Amino acid sequence: MEERNIDKLLFESAESAIAEIESELEKIDESTRKKIRKEIGVLPLRKFTIFPYQIAPILISSKKSVKLIDEAVSLDKLICAITIKNENKEEINAEDLYQFGTVCKIVKMLRFPSNSVRIVVQGIARAQIVEYISNTPYIKAKIEIPEEIITNEKELQALQRNAIDIFNRITSYLPQFSEELKIIISNINEPSKLADFISSNINLSTAERQELLEHLDINQRFERLLFFLNRELELLELGAKIQNRIKSELDEKNREFLLRQELEAIKKELGESDEVLSEINELKEKVKKANMPEEVEKEALRELERMAKMSPGFAEYTVSRTYVEWLIDMPWSVVTEDNLDLKRVKEFLDEDHYNLEKVKERIIEYLAVRKLKSDVKGPILCFVGPPGVGKTSLGQSIAKAMNRKFVRISLGGIRDESEIRGHRRTYVGALPGRIIQGIKNAGSKNPVFMLDEIDKIGVDFRGDPAAALLEVLDPEQNHAFSDHYLELPFDLSDVFFITTANDKYNIPKPLLDRMEVIEIPGYTEDEKLHIAEEFLIPKKIDEHGLSKDILKFSKEAILEIIRYYTREAGVRELERTIASICRKVAKKYVEEKKDINIHIKASDLEVYLGPKKYRYGSAETEDEIGVATGLAWTEAGGDVLSIEVSVIPGTGKLILTGKLGEIMQESAQAALSYARSKATEFKLPENFYKKFDIHIHVPEGAVTKEGPSAGITIATALISALSKIPVRKDVAMTGEITLRGKVLPIGGVKEKVLSAHRANIKNVILPLENKKDFVEIPKEIYKTMNFHFVTKMEQVLKIALTKNDFINSDTGEILSGEKIEKKLKEKRKKIEKTDEKPVEQPVV
Ligand SMILES: Nc1ncnc2c1ncn2[C@@H]1O[C@H](COP(=O)(O)OP(=O)(O)OP(=O)(O)O)[C@@H](O)[C@H]1O
Ligand SMILES: [Mg+2]
Repeated sequence: MEERNIDKLLFESAESAIAEIESELEKIDESTRKKIRKEIGVLPLRKFTIFPYQIAPILISSKKSVKLIDEAVSLDKLICAITIKNENKEEINAEDLYQFGTVCKIVKMLRFPSNSVRIVVQGIARAQIVEYISNTPYIKAKIEIPEEIITNEKELQALQRNAIDIFNRITSYLPQFSEELKIIISNINEPSKLADFISSNINLSTAERQELLEHLDINQRFERLLFFLNRELELLELGAKIQNRIKSELDEKNREFLLRQELEAIKKELGESDEVLSEINELKEKVKKANMPEEVEKEALRELERMAKMSPGFAEYTVSRTYVEWLIDMPWSVVTEDNLDLKRVKEFLDEDHYNLEKVKERIIEYLAVRKLKSDVKGPILCFVGPPGVGKTSLGQSIAKAMNRKFVRISLGGIRDESEIRGHRRTYVGALPGRIIQGIKNAGSKNPVFMLDEIDKIGVDFRGDPAAALLEVLDPEQNHAFSDHYLELPFDLSDVFFITTANDKYNIPKPLLDRMEVIEIPGYTEDEKLHIAEEFLIPKKIDEHGLSKDILKFSKEAILEIIRYYTREAGVRELERTIASICRKVAKKYVEEKKDINIHIKASDLEVYLGPKKYRYGSAETEDEIGVATGLAWTEAGGDVLSIEVSVIPGTGKLILTGKLGEIMQESAQAALSYARSKATEFKLPENFYKKFDIHIHVPEGAVTKEGPSAGITIATALISALSKIPVRKDVAMTGEITLRGKVLPIGGVKEKVLSAHRANIKNVILPLENKKDFVEIPKEIYKTMNFHFVTKMEQVLKIALTKNDFINSDTGEILSGEKIEKKLKEKRKKIEKTDEKPVEQPVV
């Protein structure tokens, strides 16, 4: 039985094979053809066709065929290979074969032990069966080499080119075809040969191969061949396309798969995935429970969604989480219920603070209005006063009394708007501003919110914090306060804002306009004594684990502490000093391990506190030339200070010493000019401003020497020095002077009068316009004193100089303490009736 076996080796020696065929064909002359025509052994081929010029290996195992091959080889005969029509048939006879075949020469034969042989044949020429002669011992036939025809020479050329072109394209898809093949093809000149060579090298069914073999019209053969070539090319192209698509699909899938694998690996490395999800879910729960406004909740959930898509290793994730936590922690709808029982509130306030009636009353009023009209947007209270007068602690008491939460932030030194309003989240480490932080700390949206040191905010290139504060404090705007960090409006309209300042004049004007200022001017000695006895001492004794049986203070001791161990308008230093005594007593108590009771007397203070720390200015002991007593306002209250002027021969220089501030120096200039203008009137030395140097000195380093309020004191000392008339030692004064000798009002009257009282000075000269300030002075202070209210410098001199008959002036309005008391009573009545408020004066 014949087998076909296409050997790969086939084409490797194709060129040499072709050459061989050429030479072989040359041998086939007319006579050979005739010889062939006579009779030839037939080799049936199953599922295969050999074309002329083709070299093909064939495995043969049927006995008939082996016999044929044996004979053909031994007798060097040609054979005719003919394809079997019905390829499934077992026993092959002549009638099972096609009518066309190929005459072949056996090139090689190899015998196998199983009686089969392998031969390599070479196609030589087409053969047409004329008739089959016999079936045994092998099939024999009479054949003819048919005449081939060319119907159209030109068309054939075109067909050939086409075929070569397509064939070349086909081979480019098939790696088993070598480049050599192209060269071989281009070297075949004969059309029939070309067609057969191509036919033998492409993928065709047996029937198709047979069809091509039978076409004797070469034009037709090429047309048919072209059809098959095109089909093959199309198939190959399609195949390549499919291949590509499959490949890219695979690539895509692969890529995704690989990326997922990688992501999983990274996540594992970072130890997350499930934890992230549970964290986000936990936050989601909290968001839902936080009772946020709808808009806020939406934003929070949106942020959580963003988080879910992020890796927790990213900084962005932490930023988002912190943000959501802030949203959760804000008391969006937490409100404490106000206690508006006014009596109880008053009790609370009295419990912690001595006196301060004006302030307490204002607070009660505020609450009364709230009680009547709950939606009223109350004004912002602003407590103004020196340190330690209880501004902060009042705020705490208010919160306690109203049953509200209390928060306090200090605005001192803030220069950056974002301190108030927060940083945008795009900044590294961004946080909300102090307002929102305060609200979060309070844990309710209606706390008492104290903004300390509002007079100490600054402005610079980072924006104006005051402008941001305006938005916070303005009831028209603060229901939707926008913090840069939160980026969501927060309602501040229920917050009870209280601001504090030491100096009203340093509060930015637009802020001041929105606030109701309540001044807490500082305490008198007497008030301090009360505060110490009733509040500070019991508080400190308690705080140090002592009791009032163990430690007592005598009144004199407390007064000595106030006078010589503290210098302040408030009571903070006093509180500290008391605390330091308590500490020492506690130590003693613990060390001695027995009941002690200590009564602190004035004489014991040096033991506990060391030598006296402060010395107060006091009245001069004698009437002196060139020395006048002035009254000064300091942050720590008022003080008495002497102004000295000495006139020495010179060239008219004005020497100022004692670290005087600029305004005080100008006051000195004004006083000098005034003296010059009144030189004749006051009988001052002629041309004194040319012949003398004038030296003005203000001793005592501790006192602030700034402001115009020393004007009349300087002028008095100067005129005394020039006229050689002494100044009365029991007169103290304060007031600004103009060039024409007018006396202008000053600030700090209360503190100044208190200091004069403390220095035991009986007469005080004050500008007439300051009379209204007497409302604030406790009557036990002014009762023992006389007050001279003046408008002109002449009046000052008339009172202050010991010899004054040459001065042509009245002495202004003189009021003794009793008279003032009477007048004040009238005034108070009037104020109550008209609700008139005393006009505020700037502090000098
Ligand atoms: N009238 C008063 N009665 C009782 N205690 C007082 C009174 N005034 C102040 N104190 C006490 O003095 C101490 C200091 O007060 P606080 O801290 O409130 O001063 P402040 O005005 O806020 O000062 P600063 O301007 O420095 O902030 C507190 O312990 C306070 O209780
Ligand atoms: Mg304070």
